[in-house]
Amino acid sequence: AAGNRVPCRFPFSRVSKQDLAFFENLLPGRTIVDPDVLMTHNVDWMKSVRGSSELLLRPQTTEEVSKILKYCCERRLAVNPQGGNTGLVGGSVPVYDEIILSTSLMNQILSFDQVSGIITCQAGCVLENLSNYLEERDFIMPLDLGAKGSCQIGGNVATNAGGLRLLRYGSLRGTVLGLEVVLASGKILNFLTALRKDNTGYDLKQLFIGSEGTLGIITAVSILCPRRPRAVNVAFLGCSSYKKLLETFQCCRGMLGEILSAFEFLDSACMKLLEKHLKLINPIAENSFYIVIETAGSNADHDKEKLHNFLEAVMASFLVTDGTVATEDAKIKALWSIRERVTEALTHDGYTYKYDISLPLEKIYQLVEDMREYLGDKAKNVVGYGHVGDGNLHLNITSHSKDQALQEAIEPYVYEWTARYRGSISAEHGLGLKKRNYIHFSKHPEAVALMKDIKHMLDPHRILNPYKTLPDQG
Ligand code: FAD
Ligand code: MLT
Ligand code: ZN
Repeated sequence: AAGNRVPCRFPFSRVSKQDLAFFENLLPGRTIVDPDVLMTHNVDWMKSVRGSSELLLRPQTTEEVSKILKYCCERRLAVNPQGGNTGLVGGSVPVYDEIILSTSLMNQILSFDQVSGIITCQAGCVLENLSNYLEERDFIMPLDLGAKGSCQIGGNVATNAGGLRLLRYGSLRGTVLGLEVVLASGKILNFLTALRKDNTGYDLKQLFIGSEGTLGIITAVSILCPRRPRAVNVAFLGCSSYKKLLETFQCCRGMLGEILSAFEFLDSACMKLLEKHLKLINPIAENSFYIVIETAGSNADHDKEKLHNFLEAVMASFLVTDGTVATEDAKIKALWSIRERVTEALTHDGYTYKYDISLPLEKIYQLVEDMREYLGDKAKNVVGYGHVGDGNLHLNITSHSKDQALQEAIEPYVYEWTARYRGSISAEHGLGLKKRNYIHFSKHPEAVALMKDIKHMLDPHRILNPYKTLPDQG
């Protein structure tokens, strides 16, 4: 499809010996040219896009990031910001020879306020490390996702990652209270406030949340964290139809109310891939749909009673046909891994075409069924899973190997389908390289034009993550 064509290289400078000498002087031992190290930074998590950068920089401080960008801006050298490199739209790796600026060594926690629950840290902190730090202090991060062991908070903010807890704690647009950002010019913007309320002018940090490294490099973040719930329960349930799954969701919201912390789903095709490729065992009877419900509250007896009443109601009304509940950590983790590891299972099924769609709830599974019928045996598997409680479907299609004809059958069909119901063609993964040219299916031309104006104002030489997020034309 035309939208997937790789753009022509912009006329950036190429890294010279003098440039290398500058960087080695600024970042001794952290200016990497070793091809073996560069190889892993040039390819994305899905191994679907590959760049050819010959230089990796590992700053430790904001001042170093600022000096790098000031120099690169003056020299017209392109820069690809990189966190944990778990992004799913090809945004985290270079397209050509952009310099990779990795935040991995910017991993210090700067402060934590035990009363307000506000943590302030450098952008390179790994999400799981932050979660562990907070849990020891009776708090949790307001976001959680399958990539927690590798993804970094700066990358999470740059993609406005959603994840498994958004239903309860909301998006990073609400929980991120402050940011420190370095602009393409090297200018440092310090919005690192830790205030819950601040209506003094435009909320500039929002520009950088979800900007995928195209407007500035996030160097530090402050986030509002919830208290660690004293009681957590997970229910893994089976439903025979999507209609029943939605009725279960309605009932669940009504009966679990404020203790509901996640409502996720996967279909039977996902379960088959988990069994086949990862040897996971389905803990309940075979079904068309599986739901993961999590409750998080402060009173174990109260939560248990609520969950029990809910389960009785959905079983009695035949909305749910089978289920299992976990209260202890190991079983909770095991049930969650069935949902979290679908992404990994898919990587073993061949080449994956990944779509991350927001739709009205009642339309979500219709897209999967329609796609299955429309593609017939052109596709190996068509599966649906995701954050159904947030109206976010992950539609994934696999083929034995990369297949241009299949991709052209899917795109723009899937985007047209989504636009028909005023959905979003990227609910949480961003646009990166892969989806940039499809932005028009979700945004009006006036909005795209304003985005381009903002980009031009903040990064007139387009050195920051070029070829990403904004469309090539229009
Ligand atoms: P990277 O992949 O390194 O970068 C992502 C983008 O952000 C790139 O465009 C990069 O240039 C930019 N960037 C990175 N760091 C910075 C910075 N400091 N400043 C400016 N720009 C920066 N996403 C969800 O929303 N919900 C999920 O549930 C979810 N689950 C996932 C599960 C798995 C197994 C995997 C592999 C991915 C998942 N993702 C999910 C994708 C998600 O985008 C990333 O996991 C995460 O948010 C990216 O963080 P990262 O540090 O790996 O960033
Ligand atoms: C998820 O919810 O599992 C992630 O967004 C990753 C994916 O879409 O596969
Ligand atoms: Zn997701």
